[in-house]
Amino acid sequence: MQRRALIAGNWKMNLSLKEAISLTKEIANGILDIEDRDILIAPPFPYLYPITQLLKGSKIYLSAQNMHWEREGAFTGEVSGLMLKDVGCTHVIIGHSERRIIFQETDEQIARKINTALEIGLCPILCVGEKLEERESAQTFSVIKSQLEGALGHLRSVPDSFVIAYEPVWAIGTGRTATPSQAQEVHSFIREWIRKKFGEEKSSAIRILYGGSVKPENIRDLMSEKDIDGVLVGGASLKSESFLKIIRF
Ligand code: 13P
Repeated sequence: MQRRALIAGNWKMNLSLKEAISLTKEIANGILDIEDRDILIAPPFPYLYPITQLLKGSKIYLSAQNMHWEREGAFTGEVSGLMLKDVGCTHVIIGHSERRIIFQETDEQIARKINTALEIGLCPILCVGEKLEERESAQTFSVIKSQLEGALGHLRSVPDSFVIAYEPVWAIGTGRTATPSQAQEVHSFIREWIRKKFGEEKSSAIRILYGGSVKPENIRDLMSEKDIDGVLVGGASLKSESFLKIIRF
């Protein structure tokens, strides 16, 4: 199956409102002629609503970077998936390594977030990835497997639109990208896990993105690997020039 490429920008906790608006406009104007791939941006929470207004009539998908697993209630400081849908999000990033490591998010919480997102019709982008010491001690595959089982093990199925992002922690924001073959090896492992768990059709439909120091200079080689269906870009998605180059790889 030919999977449509998905190029996603995770802005993390960056940019002023003014900068976020300019960046959105530049990206929207820069992709008008692009038909053969999907483009997604994940701005910080307060910018989602103004950006939704700008994206009316645009093909760009809007994603949040996190959500709470409950739909509403006394959870000061949290944002629910229903609110994200209400302001125009179609996707939500779940289990980013910065959430897992800095905010001690657990597999159980991630699984609950995935459940809620699926129940309310938000498409999850589930992030998995090993730390440097785990790679160096040959635990990459066992870590990825346990993250996949923790997040998805309890599910009977997932929609074809479900997205998984492989983001090795040692490659995030470090300038050190996984080589295309290092990434491909893990992507193929993830696809095989999906095949065993959810069947052949799902495994060929689900898109697996690579994330970690993706730049205009390395996108082409990464995208030439058969199980790399797109990228989740941090730093290089904050400037339209580099993000548009990545989109047009
Ligand atoms: P960088 O592209 O800045 O390495 O970040 C990757 C990432 O964490 C995307 O979610």
